[in-house]
Amino acid sequence: MKVLLLEGIHPLAAEVLRRAGCDVDVRAGSLSEDELVDGLPGVALLGIRSNTRVTPRVLGAGKDLLALGCFCIGTNQVHLDEAADRGIAVFNAPFSNTRSVVELVLGEIISLTRRLPEKTLRMHDGVWDKSAKGSHEIRGRTLGIVGYGNIGTQLSNVAEAVGMRVIFFDTADRLAHGNARRVGSLDELLAGSDVVSLHVDGRPGNAGLFGADQFATMKPGAIFINASRGMVVDDAALRANVLSGHLSGAAIDVFPIEPKAQGDHFDSPLRGLDNVILTPHVGGSTQEAQEEIGYFVATKLVSFVQAGSTALSVNLPEVAAPQPPGAFRMGYLHTSEPGVLAGINRLLADAGANVVGQSLSTRGEHGYVVTDTDRALPEATLSVLHQLPQTVWLRSWQP
Ligand SMILES: NC(=O)c1ccc[n+]([C@@H]2O[C@H](COP(=O)([O-])OP(=O)(O)OC[C@H]3O[C@@H](n4cnc5c(N)ncnc54)[C@H](O)[C@@H]3O)[C@@H](O)[C@H]2O)c1
Repeated sequence: MKVLLLEGIHPLAAEVLRRAGCDVDVRAGSLSEDELVDGLPGVALLGIRSNTRVTPRVLGAGKDLLALGCFCIGTNQVHLDEAADRGIAVFNAPFSNTRSVVELVLGEIISLTRRLPEKTLRMHDGVWDKSAKGSHEIRGRTLGIVGYGNIGTQLSNVAEAVGMRVIFFDTADRLAHGNARRVGSLDELLAGSDVVSLHVDGRPGNAGLFGADQFATMKPGAIFINASRGMVVDDAALRANVLSGHLSGAAIDVFPIEPKAQGDHFDSPLRGLDNVILTPHVGGSTQEAQEEIGYFVATKLVSFVQAGSTALSVNLPEVAAPQPPGAFRMGYLHTSEPGVLAGINRLLADAGANVVGQSLSTRGEHGYVVTDTDRALPEATLSVLHQLPQTVWLRSWQP
């Protein structure tokens, strides 16, 4: 099976795919649309990062393409619906950089609580300003986490391990980790936290979640951190609160408008403020995260081609059923309409095959059934299924 990995994906990905028997071609850069159209025939698995645009035309040229791995978090660069209509599974790595974000935020909490950005700046300016004024330990201080998902919960554990008290607010029902305490409202969290850190997702309703009212509700001298989404925070209101001294510091990694290319000019109302750390959306950017992403996406691709698993696919129905020992497996992707499953099972019964496992899931216009049988299905049965008008693809695996 031929694999094309673009954009300098971590070498661990190629290693995982080669171990699975794939013939892997690795390229450092991305390819243009025309280059992809020329290069894709014969390629079964394509790996990209964020700079390769996979358009409907590219997908149309990928006649042999089974799956696409986005070795990154976002999938905007891929036309997901077109990929689903063609039965091409798309995978990404939504959680692989969780720890990297958490470590950055923890470092920022310590740095800002000690006012390190200010101190290092003065040292570089040649000023020896040795003073404990405004510097604190983080031990015993309260961290308020808004958004208690993958990152929020891991930050909660790490912050408690260094002696912070943790409170959190989430719109969904989330289990408290360790000694963390859920609070009933955002305002309650803001009024009770020495540090507020945002870890909400990018749903449209979160645009402008944090503005003048929320900053005013925070404790005087508190610290504000946002490594979630730029559109969540009103940066002008944040600037006003830092300048007035109501907030003692802030760390911001994400911005409403971010430069597109390396070296582009960056502008923000937050530039030039004391005790404010600005980073260029690098919360998740570490070598460890790249390695983890390489491993995570490559294993998703391997389990898709070897066992039909669509677990964590971003565009196809998710089915991840363990294959019973000795069972023959059939994966069937079809357009979702009533009676398809009953039709399949009728055909299997006619073929004398006993079903030992079956999982079905639907998503949008598509349904995906994975069926394990006690015997190989006759060619005639497979051929009938292949020819049904609902069929997108059908694949089978021997034990
Ligand atoms: N800075 C970076 O480089 C970087 C890297 C990875 C992720 N992120 C961003 O971090 C954020 C969190 O990621 P995650 O993986 O933990 O996401 P997640 O989906 O696991 O968790 C988000 C949580 O926020 C909660 N939530 C949503 N809106 C809320 C609101 N208005 N008030 C309270 N809770 C709310 C959700 O219920 C959920 O529990 C995302 O926006 C993600 O894009 C940034």
